[in-house]
Amino acid sequence: MQPYTITLIRGDGIGPEIAESVIEVFEAAETPIRWEEAHAGLACLERYGTPIPEATLESIRRNRVALKGPTTTPIGGGHRSINVAIRKAFELFANVRPARSIPGVQTRYNDIDLILVRENIEDTYAGVEYWQTPDVAESLRLISRPGSSAVIRYAFDLARRLGRRKVTCVHKANIQKISDGLFLECFRAIAAEYPDIESDDILVDNACMQLVMRPERFDVLVLPNLFGDIVSDLCAGLIGGLGVAPGGNIGNGYAVFEAVHGSAPDIAGKGVANPTAFLLSAVQMLHHLGLHGDAERIENALRYTLVSGIKTRDLGGNANTREFTRAVVSNLPPRSQSQAQNAPVQEPYRTPMLAPRSTDAEGWQTVGVDLFFHALQPPTDLPPQIGAARLHALSNRGVALESHAVGDRYLLNWFRARYVSETPLSEAEVNAIVETLAPRLHWTTMQRLYRTREGVNLFSPIQTD
Ligand code: NAI
Repeated sequence: MQPYTITLIRGDGIGPEIAESVIEVFEAAETPIRWEEAHAGLACLERYGTPIPEATLESIRRNRVALKGPTTTPIGGGHRSINVAIRKAFELFANVRPARSIPGVQTRYNDIDLILVRENIEDTYAGVEYWQTPDVAESLRLISRPGSSAVIRYAFDLARRLGRRKVTCVHKANIQKISDGLFLECFRAIAAEYPDIESDDILVDNACMQLVMRPERFDVLVLPNLFGDIVSDLCAGLIGGLGVAPGGNIGNGYAVFEAVHGSAPDIAGKGVANPTAFLLSAVQMLHHLGLHGDAERIENALRYTLVSGIKTRDLGGNANTREFTRAVVSNLPPRSQSQAQNAPVQEPYRTPMLAPRSTDAEGWQTVGVDLFFHALQPPTDLPPQIGAARLHALSNRGVALESHAVGDRYLLNWFRARYVSETPLSEAEVNAIVETLAPRLHWTTMQRLYRTREGVNLFSPIQTD
């Protein structure tokens, strides 16, 4: 059998130590994998001036599958996350994080078996952020129909492929009515195409509580990016922590597997890191390649090692990374024909492409403008009416200034003036609103307000009472 060539990125911190462990176990297991080493991380930044050199992206492009160690992302400033860059470069829209109890790893539960599928590109991770005033930072939470549909469809396909019973959509559509509302709408539409799989939805705050109290209520979960990030660490906690939580990033024809944990700078170089999560990510990669037999052998060896009490420090044991790795190697079942039953090569996952949608938003009519501006005090001289549009509200932190619902308020130096018309506005009328306001205000952002022909506003209301 021709070996698969897989891009291997060792990464930063504990990355090289746990990568060494995977290389050793895979070699002992005689998996048909040939590693092509590529680099990313802090050392690349020093050497090449970029944390992810083009040669690394080229290697992933060529091999289509990569195993990636953790890389350090500076907080607050510095270079952008390498993971986020790779996910975007290869459109790895689904982040699949299984959470399965491991016998021998002491936790509150011993029967957890969940799969969390997290949207991986959009949401606040689109990284569209601005300073609006010296006191106000804004982050755009981008949720799209094609992006949501791709990950939700992947979750249902995965559930069907693995014979899982239910997919649950986790969201916050009671508050983020438009963005999470869209995610939920996509979920309901796609769920209807999979009548063989149960589906339901739950608010993210309730989901967190239920996961801790009654995790058996869940099976496969699908979430927008930021909630997925947070809830997947909660799920990692249910099975013994970051040291045992694997993950894979799946796109159309590309896949990059990596553990949930980061580069663990506090223990880097000490030889005590737990390689389990990275090994399980590599096992997930073998399943993705169709090498189920090899995947099962390695996972069995790993589980047997943990059950037999050989554990790293983070799991309450005293084995170091090398000792643990050697134990896994010694527990590998022989590569007999029956055990290494590898399925034929799998076709890479492809979502059906969505039909391109009309960009001129058929049936959407412009009925107003929100103009955001920087000011120390609310202006008192805004025109009450511009053409057909009337000043509906002047708001601060999302609430109208004249709202009776709030008493003494701290006003930010960032305001919003909303002009809305009862009837649709022509482009000339929209421009007239902007041209009237722009010279009077130090504006930062403008937002067009749409309404459907049926009279549904496509923007959130301002709290006015
Ligand atoms: P972290 O996951 O690196 O560490 C959190 C805690 O868990 C630490 O106490 C660490 O020692 C422990 N831990 C993590 N993995 C372990 C393992 N395999 N064995 C034993 N203990 C382990 O999270 P932290 O400290 O927030 O982030 C460190 C750096 O990693 C940051 O720069 C962050 O941006 C980056 N990061 C990278 C990721 C990736 O490349 N996929 C994912 C998450 C964070």
